[in-house]
Amino acid sequence: MKKIAVLPGDGIGPEVMKEAIKVLDAAQEKYSFELEYEYADVGGIAIDNHKTALPQATLELCENSDAVLFGSVGGPKWESLPPDQQPERAALLPLRKHFDLFCNLRPAKVFPSLTKSCPLRPDIVGDGFDILCVRELTSGIYFGTPKGREGQGPDEFAFDTMRYKRSEIERIARMAFDAARLRNKKVTSVDKANVLTTMVLWREVVMEVARDYPDVELNHIYVDNATMQLVRYPQQFDVMLCGNMFGDIVSDEAAMLTGSMGLLASASLNADKFGLYEPAGGSAPDIAGKGIANPIAQILSGAMMLRYSLGQDDAADAIDGAVGATLAKGIVTADLTSDRESAVTTVEMGDAIVAELLAR
Ligand code: NAD
Ligand code: IPM
Ligand code: MN
Repeated sequence: MKKIAVLPGDGIGPEVMKEAIKVLDAAQEKYSFELEYEYADVGGIAIDNHKTALPQATLELCENSDAVLFGSVGGPKWESLPPDQQPERAALLPLRKHFDLFCNLRPAKVFPSLTKSCPLRPDIVGDGFDILCVRELTSGIYFGTPKGREGQGPDEFAFDTMRYKRSEIERIARMAFDAARLRNKKVTSVDKANVLTTMVLWREVVMEVARDYPDVELNHIYVDNATMQLVRYPQQFDVMLCGNMFGDIVSDEAAMLTGSMGLLASASLNADKFGLYEPAGGSAPDIAGKGIANPIAQILSGAMMLRYSLGQDDAADAIDGAVGATLAKGIVTADLTSDRESAVTTVEMGDAIVAELLAR
């Protein structure tokens, strides 16, 4: 029996997590394996209940589990706390760092039935695209030191440090090339080597790694052009290799191009393939509590967990298939349609995917 740390978090986190657990339960029934879930508070709810965003008990639960299924953290209620006590900086980033989850995989693929939900013109989206954003997750400007604020009045200033080690670039680049080998054998490295010294090193190291992958095509693109090319001709991309901050930005854009922020799952892995699995989107305070959030990103994050941490590839494929088949029947949540009357709720979407999974 594998043990899963379930951390629903804040906002829509608990709502979509419930549906993901429902789907994982159905997958266990169908594919005869057992998961043991243990729930813990993280983020704003943990601040409310335990006065800290990442209680020691939550961290220990994650350490003693085979994988972590994470919802989302943060929201207006905790935005007035000192920045280093807020859920994002006091729970999510430390969790990523603690487990050395340097490799963040964010697959953005258009489901065939959803090309209409894509904000791009039909002649641009065509039959869709299939992009894997490989984002470095434990270094770069998010974690570089020093960072801080000094001075007063008009001279007050604040600073962050963007820093990358050769070894950090090398290991994420290898993940991108390895992933490309299993796909369309094309890596586009997103950088800003025309301005940032860290990105000059980034480009150099990526080129060095590429020598070990002569079968994979490598291109370099500046991040500003990359965000533009994504809306001009997304089909040109296969694997997009990004540093921490550029990957954050590029993956939200790619998510929306698939139809909604609520579709993009992610896996954050370390060198031992221990993983934390979470939607790329956040706690969506604007729709939290209304029962209308799209649970698919959380459900597909559960499928990624089955694939990367638990060796249940068949069950993971079946969940992916059930999601596609549900959408193909025209069953969509409000974020995917302008016809709000026909949209299903979070719970109805979860039920429909479970039914589809069990019927396969
Ligand atoms: P967000 O991703 O929460 O929301 C952006 C927009 O996308 C909103 O309109 C929201 O309704 C929509 N959206 C997101 N997920 C959706 C879903 N599943 N179904 C339907 N619509 C969905 O980003 P934000 O508003 O910038 O951030 C809100 C809070 O979440 C902030 O506190 C932020 O720091 C936090 N956040 C947390 C995570 C995380 O825990 N991994 C990720 C991103 C943002
Ligand atoms: C994400 C989120 C996080 C990030 C925030 C909440 C710290 O936006 O997972 O994409 O910037 O990495
Ligand atoms: Mn983000």
